[in-house]
Amino acid sequence: MKKLTLALFAGLILVFACQRTPSDRKIDLTVPWRFHSGDDPAWTGATFDDSKWELINPTDIWEHQGYKNLDGFAWYRMRVVIPHILIDDAYIKDSIQFKLGKIDDYDQVFLNGELIGENGKNILPKIQPRPDFFKGPSQWDTERRYTLAANDPRVHWDQENIIAVRAYDRGGAGGMFSKPFEISMVDLPDHIKFDFGQSGFKFVGDTLISRQFAVYNISQKEEFKGTLTIHANRCDNGSLLFKQETVLNMPPGIRTVFTVNIIKDLAVPATVYFSYREKSSGKEVKERLEMPYILTPKPGKTPRINGALVFGIRPWSPLLYKIAATGEPPLTYSAEGLPEGLHLHADDGLITGMLSKKGEYTVKLKVTNSVGTAGRNLTIKCGDLISLTPPLGWNSWNVWGLTVSDKKVRQAGDAFVSSGLISHGWTYINIDDGWEDTHDKNGNIIPNFKFPNMKEMCNYIHSLGLKVGIYSSPGPRTCGGYEGSYSFEEKDAQHYADWGIDYLKYDWCSYGGIAPNPNDHQLKFPYREMRRYIRKVNRDIHYSLCQYGMGDVWKWGNEVDGNSWRTTGDIEDSWESLSGIGFSQDKCSPFSAPGRWNDPDMLVVGWVGWGPKLHYTRLTPNEQYTHMSLWSLLAAPLLIGCDLTQLDDFTLNLLTNDEVLAINQDPSGKQARQAWKTDECQIWIRDLEDGSKAIGLFNLTEYPLPVNVKLNDLGLKGKWMMRDVWPQKDLGLVETHFEMNVLPHGVRLLVLRKP
Ligand code: GAL
Repeated sequence: MKKLTLALFAGLILVFACQRTPSDRKIDLTVPWRFHSGDDPAWTGATFDDSKWELINPTDIWEHQGYKNLDGFAWYRMRVVIPHILIDDAYIKDSIQFKLGKIDDYDQVFLNGELIGENGKNILPKIQPRPDFFKGPSQWDTERRYTLAANDPRVHWDQENIIAVRAYDRGGAGGMFSKPFEISMVDLPDHIKFDFGQSGFKFVGDTLISRQFAVYNISQKEEFKGTLTIHANRCDNGSLLFKQETVLNMPPGIRTVFTVNIIKDLAVPATVYFSYREKSSGKEVKERLEMPYILTPKPGKTPRINGALVFGIRPWSPLLYKIAATGEPPLTYSAEGLPEGLHLHADDGLITGMLSKKGEYTVKLKVTNSVGTAGRNLTIKCGDLISLTPPLGWNSWNVWGLTVSDKKVRQAGDAFVSSGLISHGWTYINIDDGWEDTHDKNGNIIPNFKFPNMKEMCNYIHSLGLKVGIYSSPGPRTCGGYEGSYSFEEKDAQHYADWGIDYLKYDWCSYGGIAPNPNDHQLKFPYREMRRYIRKVNRDIHYSLCQYGMGDVWKWGNEVDGNSWRTTGDIEDSWESLSGIGFSQDKCSPFSAPGRWNDPDMLVVGWVGWGPKLHYTRLTPNEQYTHMSLWSLLAAPLLIGCDLTQLDDFTLNLLTNDEVLAINQDPSGKQARQAWKTDECQIWIRDLEDGSKAIGLFNLTEYPLPVNVKLNDLGLKGKWMMRDVWPQKDLGLVETHFEMNVLPHGVRLLVLRKP
C-alpha cells in the first residue's frame, strides 16, 4: 500500500474557486490541553499544578485517545495569554467569547478559578453559579460559546489565564470534541449571519438554479452599513458565472431575504460566495455555498428493470414484491417461471402470494412498453433468510421526529409512487418513534390519536406496492418517552403482524434502566426475546436492532437473528457526523452478509429537521454524493429521512441512480473495505458478485484533490474497464494507474470490470 501516491497539486484556479474563506483574529485553542479523569474542586484553581497531567487533543472524544472505558467526570485544563490586541483589532469591543467545540455530555467552565459557563445540570453543587454566565440547553451536540464582558475581572488581559473544564459523560462517547476551539471578540461575524436553511435550491427548466437566502443582523443594539456581494464560479475552470453587489444597511434585528438566480450547465459543480463588507471598519463576513450539480442521467423511454436481483421469503409468509422498472408508461409486466403460489399483476408489476416449500426459483421478468422490452432474472429464495439485499426505504425520524402521523406516513407512500422512487426499488415506509399510546388492560398496544387505524394505514401502503415499518423498544419506554414493549413482547409482535407490519426497528432506550451495565448476555437477551415472537408470526418482518453499536453488535447481530443492526449513535446533517460515522465502518465490514447488514444510520438529505420544524440538509452537494456512495459501498440499509412532499430535483437525482443503487443491492452482500487512508483521502473497495470492483475515492479535505491511484496498491492486477458510476459513463481501459480530481468532501465512485 505504501506506494500509492496521493498527489495534491494546488491548482491555483481550482483552489481559488472552491476553497473555504479565512476567518478573523482569534486565539487558537486546538493545542494539547492537560487532562485528568476523576473530579476534584481543587482542579478549578488558578494555582493548581497540572504539569503531571496527560496531554490530550480537545477536538476528539477521549475514547479515541486512550480512555476507552471512561464514563463520568474528567477535567481539561489549559493556559493561555489573552493579548489586548484582540480588543484593539475588534470593530465591536464589548465582549469576549470562548468557543469550546462541543462537550459530551455536560460541562462547567472556569476561567482563572471562577465559573464562566455551564451546559447541562449544575453538576458541582459546592460551586454557586453566578447569574451572569451563559447557560446552555444541556445538549452534548451544542456548540459551546461562553461570552463575558471585555472588562469582566475574570479575564486577565495580557497575562496568563487558566481555563479549566469539568466534563461529565453519562456513557458512550465522552469529553470535548469538534471545533472551533478559540478565543475571540464578539465581532461583526457574530452579528451578521447568512441563513440558507429556510430554502433549498430550485431548478427552473434545464439551466436555471435559484436559491433564497437571508442576511440578518442578530445584534439587538448594533447597526451596520455596508455592501453585500454575491458571486458564483465554476469549480472546474474558475470562470465567473454570476456577480451582484448591493448596498445593504442593517439596523439591529433586521433580516433581509434575497434570491440568487444562476444560469449554468446543471452537471457543472459551482460555488456561490457571499460577503458582507462593513463600510467604516472594512470588516467582512463571508460564506460560501456549493451549488447542486446533477450527475444521474434521466431514465430513458425504453424499459429498464431495476431493484434487487435476489429476494428472500420464508415458507407460509405472504409475499409482496414490486417489479421496479422505469420507461415510458404504460408498462406491462410478465414473469416466466413463477413458482406455484405466486401471482403477477401484469399492469402494475406486483407479485403476491405465498410459498409453501423451501427452494430457489429463477423467474424471468419482462417489462414492455410501446418503445421496447427489458428482461432480467430474479432469484426468489424461499428459506430461512429474508432481506437478502439491504432494505431501501423511508423512515420518519430524521424528518418528523416525534410529530409523525398517519397522514405523514401516507404522504410518504404517495410520494414514493408519484416521484418515481418506487421504480428504482425503494420499498419500505417506516414509522419511527412517536406512534404509541399505551397497553390496555388486556395488554394490547394502542396507537395514539395520530394513528387512528393502523391496519387501514398499512393496507393503504401495501396497496401502493410498498411495505410498512414500525418502531419499539425492549424497555418500558422508547427514547422519545413513549410506550415500549417491555413485558408485552409477544402481544406486540402479534399486533404488528395483524396490522401488516414488514419491518421492526427495536431500540434499546430505557432498557438501559433494566440492564444498566449490560454484559454480553444482557445485551443480547431483549433482542432474542422479541426475535422469538416475531419469528412465530406468519409474516416476514425485517428485524432491525438499534442499540448504537454496544458490545460490537456487528459481531453477534446475526446470532440474535437481526437482519440489520445500527453500528453507531444517531447521525446528523453535518460533515463531522457523516464522515465520523461513514469512515469508521471498516471494523464492521467482515460481518456484512445477505440478510445481515451493518447499519450506519439513515440518510440525511433533502428537508430534514427531526420535526416539526424542517430545514434543508446542511450537507453540501458533494457531501451528499459521498453519503450515497459510501452507504452503497457499505451495503447499508438506505432509509431516506426527509420530507418527500418537498423532494427537489437534486435530492431525487441523488436517490435514483440505478447504478449506484445496484452497488448497494449487490447480491454478494459483501461490504467495502478501507483500502487506503491518508489525512486527505480514503479509498474504499467493494467486491461485487460478478467479480468486478466498486471503488470510492473520497476527498476529506476542503479543497479539490487530484488522487493518483496505483492499481497494484489496491491488489488489482491486469487490465480493467473503468466506469464512472454517477454519470454512468465508461472511461475506457486502465492498467497500472489512473488519476482523478475529487471535489472538496466529494467522491468519485467507479466500477472496474474485467474487459
Ligand atoms: C434513537 C434512535 C433514533 C430514533 C430515536 C427515536 O435512540 O437512535 O434513530 O429512533 O431513538 O426516539
